[in-house]
Amino acid sequence: MPFSDYSTAVVTGASTGMGAAIAGRLAKRGLTVHALARNEERLNELADKTGAVPHVVDLTDTAALAAAVGNLEVDILVNCAGVSRPGNILDSSESDIDELVDVNLRGLLQLTRLILPGMVERDRGHVINISSIAGLYNFYGHTVYHATKAAVHQVSRQLRNDTVGKRIRVTEICPGRVETEIFGRNMGGTPEAMEEAWKTYYEGYESLTTDDIVNAMDYAIETPRHVNVGMLELMPTFQVPGGLTFDRR
Ligand SMILES: NC(=O)c1ccc[n+]([C@@H]2O[C@H](COP(=O)([O-])OP(=O)(O)OC[C@H]3O[C@@H](n4cnc5c(N)ncnc54)[C@H](OP(=O)(O)O)[C@@H]3O)[C@@H](O)[C@H]2O)c1
Repeated sequence: MPFSDYSTAVVTGASTGMGAAIAGRLAKRGLTVHALARNEERLNELADKTGAVPHVVDLTDTAALAAAVGNLEVDILVNCAGVSRPGNILDSSESDIDELVDVNLRGLLQLTRLILPGMVERDRGHVINISSIAGLYNFYGHTVYHATKAAVHQVSRQLRNDTVGKRIRVTEICPGRVETEIFGRNMGGTPEAMEEAWKTYYEGYESLTTDDIVNAMDYAIETPRHVNVGMLELMPTFQVPGGLTFDRR
């Protein structure tokens, strides 16, 4: 669908990482971009740089989400915001589990509920969900992160059923490791943690960049209107999923 068919986008997680890069590209493509996140300063920087409209909102606050974007006519919804944690369910606090489910899944569902009916009514729209290889493969990631991303994978497919017969497209972008702040945030979010995470997870690795993700999104949107790109799995060439563990006792 040519980008000119679309005029308005909502992007979550737009204060940094993939979301900021996606918001920038959509603005460059001529759309009015509504950029959502909690960090006001960063959203304002994005707004200055790209013309995006900043909305300081916590995805876990459904009433705030509805007030921010519930009345907009949205053509492209990019559900990008996400959080993770180190360790697995054995290391989790009560609030870890709640936050992972609330941001990665509940917020995505609530926002989709608010925006998708308008797309259906106008017979025009594209939902792009950023999942993760954690939703498809088992490895040493956080159990709840894996669970929420598996749900995002399933939701993405189910939305195709929910909107059958309408010109609504749904694309899941499923990345392996991408150079962003996510691991630094996992480690506490301080400048020291960011540096430590960079050394541990990125230094010496050829990870994906946010540009790689943006280009995938661009392709999915720009492809002709009779084509739905359902899922794009992108991994660094040197990262492979799978592997079987058999512990000897
Ligand atoms: N980086 C990777 O290796 C990787 C791999 C696979 C999948 N992913 C997925 O890709 C997506 C983007 O990740 P990223 O790597 O770009 O992460 P990131 O750099 O850590 O950015 C996360 C974004 O989510 C927003 N966010 C977090 N909690 C929020 C909340 N409660 N309310 C509103 N916004 C919230 C953050 O904004 P504020 O803090 O300003 O609110 C930020 O803009 C996520 O869904 C992630 O799970 C990442």
